[in-house]
Amino acid sequence: MTTGKFISLEGIDGAGKSTHLNPIAEWVRARGHEVLVTREPGGTPLGESLRQLLLHQSMDPDTEALVMFAARREHVLKVIAPALQRGAWVISDRYTDASFAYQGGGRGVSLAHLSYLESWVEGGVRPHLTLLFDLDPIEARKRVLKGTPHPDRFEREQDAFFNQVRAAYLARAAAEPRRFHILDSSQTPETIFAQVCLALEGLTR
Ligand code: TYD
Repeated sequence: MTTGKFISLEGIDGAGKSTHLNPIAEWVRARGHEVLVTREPGGTPLGESLRQLLLHQSMDPDTEALVMFAARREHVLKVIAPALQRGAWVISDRYTDASFAYQGGGRGVSLAHLSYLESWVEGGVRPHLTLLFDLDPIEARKRVLKGTPHPDRFEREQDAFFNQVRAAYLARAAAEPRRFHILDSSQTPETIFAQVCLALEGLTR
């Protein structure tokens, strides 16, 4: 069976991952692969409806984690797994690492519960490469304030929350160094993209 590659982009709000989404898609397309760009929470009609609730409706942290994973289950079954099976490259703006970072690190949801949901919901569908855009939360906040007129309820969180989210991302990356590629987002977009391309080349070998 032909299988494509699965790439996820991660980082705290304002770390600049979205800037690189389309250039990455172009890079892959230029090498002759079908590309599917998607996002979480979202990526399916139900997932996009759940995204509206998640970004704008306050809820208990465990509920938040469960809804994130409910949206993810639809995404994996209906979009990601079929695309990989037909050989497409899937590029997702966030995936399960975001739940460990935001719900686990930021909100304090039990890591044991998140790990259980991870193996249940993913069913073996794991990124081959995760690009972690790493930036100091104070700098990231400046970027969010500049680019976002109406911040959602995650973007409105304080620096302490984002410090915990960032630390949780870095802990995930330390535990899986072969999958993660950490990018220092304080550099220029051009410098970062050159490093992204090196990581992508590693996937084609
Ligand atoms: P984001 O990629 O930041 O969307 P946008 O760039 O349009 O603002 O994602 C929305 C928010 O969802 C982001 O603040 C992180 C949060 N999130 C979680 O808390 N847990 C998750 O599992 C996922 C996928 C996202």
